[in-house]
Amino acid sequence: MSAALEFRQATKNFGRHRALDGLTLALHPGEILGFLGPNGAGKTTAIHLALGFLRPTSGGGAILGKPFGDTAVRSRVGYLPDVSSFYAEGARSAIEFAGKLNGMRNPRLRERARELVARMNLSSAGKDARKFSRGMQQRLGLAQALVNDPEVLILDEPTSALDPAGVMEVRELLRAAREEGKSIFFSSHQLSEVEQICDRIAFLHRGKLLREGQMEQFLEESGRSEVVVRGPILRDFQPYASEAKDEVVRYVVPVLRQRELIEHAWTAGAELISVTPLRRTLEELFLSWSDGGSGEA
Ligand SMILES: Nc1ncnc2c1ncn2[C@@H]1O[C@H](COP(=O)(O)OP(=O)(O)OP(=O)(O)O)[C@@H](O)[C@H]1O
Ligand SMILES: [Mg+2]
Repeated sequence: MSAALEFRQATKNFGRHRALDGLTLALHPGEILGFLGPNGAGKTTAIHLALGFLRPTSGGGAILGKPFGDTAVRSRVGYLPDVSSFYAEGARSAIEFAGKLNGMRNPRLRERARELVARMNLSSAGKDARKFSRGMQQRLGLAQALVNDPEVLILDEPTSALDPAGVMEVRELLRAAREEGKSIFFSSHQLSEVEQICDRIAFLHRGKLLREGQMEQFLEESGRSEVVVRGPILRDFQPYASEAKDEVVRYVVPVLRQRELIEHAWTAGAELISVTPLRRTLEELFLSWSDGGSGEA
């Protein structure tokens, strides 16, 4: 199946500054891809290229098989900008406005707007969207992105202003959207969220794609194991021993060496107290990748 969204060697310069450097990346149909990277990495720039707001310096890409900027797919894509701007109107009419821009008509549009006001808890938000709290504006922006029931969702930091309940609601919303077969591409700095809902992640650093792959694989491959043993420190595993008191020693070893450690402990007549798998968090991986861009993890 062809990609829902695809960058091909997309490059963007602002003057002499290269904000995006040969990005090649695909969002597969029906998946959630987390687009990560430190501030200024080029995430928003890449999203703006995909939507045709900016023209690439070289390279390009396609959404639903149409080249970036092609207006024919506009009505099949939902977009949440990193900073939304609104008019002096309430949530429902702002959602209806977004629907009209996508060619939607009443009565379906009116019904859909009412449904989204309820779903995004916007009924008490007020009459003037410009004065909504930042979190309410983000909910409204999401409702606008969803109004046309899009096949592809492109969200630039969808949860940056939300309270914990809001973050959870958006998580459920994105999962439900994936269940319906939608493809979701979103940038975020909220790594625990990303860890919970993404199928894949892509990590951008100074305009370049540094890492890309299955979320689970990243977390597992970098996994370690905590083994607690009562007995003298095992010579071969001394570098992994992090604490020792009253003959109880805590080792943190790569998963691949866990069995060997347990065998050594057994042979040495030590008592095995516990074995606990430790997964590195996405946050730890992010920090190691951000560190100069070559951090091994
Ligand atoms: N219109 C512009 N003119 C000049 N430079 C720009 C412009 N837009 C972005 N940049 C620069 O391009 C680089 C990438 O910016 P971008 O906004 O894409 O980063 P980002 O990954 O979205 O960061 P953040 O996590 O802070 O949102 C930055 O160095 C930024 O200063
Ligand atoms: Mg950004």
